[in-house]
Amino acid sequence: MNDAGPSFGLEDVTVAQTRLSSIDGEEGALLIGGYPVEDIAPNATYEEELYLLLHDSLPNAEELRDFRADLARRRSIPDEVASVVRRAAREGRPAMDALRMGLAAVTLSTDLGDPSAAEAEDEALRVVAAMPTIVAAYWRFRQGADPVSPRTELGHAANYLYMLRGEEPSQSDVRGLETYLNTVVDHGLNASTFAARTVVSTEADLVSAATAAVGALKGPLHGGAPGPVLNMIQEAHDRGNCEEVVRARLDAGERLMGFGHRVYRARDPRADVLSAAAEQFYAGAGRENVFETARELEAVGSRLLAERKPDRRLETNVEFYTAVLLHGIGLPAELFSPTFAVSRAGGWVAHALEQKRNNRLVRPVARYDGAEGRTWTPIGERD
Ligand code: COA
Repeated sequence: MNDAGPSFGLEDVTVAQTRLSSIDGEEGALLIGGYPVEDIAPNATYEEELYLLLHDSLPNAEELRDFRADLARRRSIPDEVASVVRRAAREGRPAMDALRMGLAAVTLSTDLGDPSAAEAEDEALRVVAAMPTIVAAYWRFRQGADPVSPRTELGHAANYLYMLRGEEPSQSDVRGLETYLNTVVDHGLNASTFAARTVVSTEADLVSAATAAVGALKGPLHGGAPGPVLNMIQEAHDRGNCEEVVRARLDAGERLMGFGHRVYRARDPRADVLSAAAEQFYAGAGRENVFETARELEAVGSRLLAERKPDRRLETNVEFYTAVLLHGIGLPAELFSPTFAVSRAGGWVAHALEQKRNNRLVRPVARYDGAEGRTWTPIGERD
């Protein structure tokens, strides 16, 4: 605990108005574009949700067809981006670094023109469409394989899996991934979305905003938790003992990854959606079933955290079942954070466009607690 009071970390400070998502931290409820997350996430395609964020209504069949095509034709990345990503893969850089580097270069060979309203949406779709291609290219290079070109007739989620694997994914893999992408697409002013809005508030472009957001999402307190969550679940699964594994982490003074949230004082509703999706998925998948272990670990973790932090309600957050579901779909842990970014890009660009429409430069203040009244000492006179 620092001595700074609650507004450090901007807790409970309102810095923008949004119609994109609404979080009720006490009740554990989340609306995306006005729809409860548990209603929309398992039913919509990613394109439908993205359209909802950008246009404030669900598309009809014709609008959806055109929107899917608009997004799909922006999937290819310039050769220079592929080169950067190949180099990052060869040097063993983390996937989030490769994504940041690739995304920053995505405007090469693309004239984005003047950022008028139509062009800003064009830029938004470009960001969302390019991200899966960059991540998939990185992953293919890491495997010593060539990237797989995107296919325009596949949906956003299906095409992402196709580019990763080089073969068409099953319907259940696509549905599992789509539910995940829809669940995490937007979530108020989380750190990466706030970063994106801050960049755009200077009247900079959306690619710069999304690149900054990728950097913010990398850290384990935000989007980097599911990898460590999976390690913990796998360790408990292999040892057949959840309690031992959780206790060891807490006794070492570590935070339990996948638990706790800045806003929720109830269970994160996204954990419910992903837990239901994971349960359904593992029941039919015939893959090594870590779902039961995850359930047990969730119960043990909640109990031990309640004992050790009785003043704080620390329940599972979205990252806990993200790890379980994405592992079930067959995504490697290294791709958990970039896959989060692939989804959240929709929220970033929707927020960036919202900020553009009603902009004021984001510029908070800091309370100075450094020295005062010092006078300059030449280098030869310093102790
Ligand atoms: N495990 C153990 N203790 C935790 C904890 C966790 N996962 N999350 C919070 N706490 C404890 C803190 O140690 C702190 O205790 P203290 O007051 O004795 O120092 C107290 O709860 C409050 O923590 P604080 O850092 O103020 O909470 P926050 O709102 O800033 O943090 C998170 C929110 C998400 C960063 C935090 O819960 C966390 O680190 N979780 C693990 C990482 C994770 O799952 N991230 C994904 C988020 S979706």
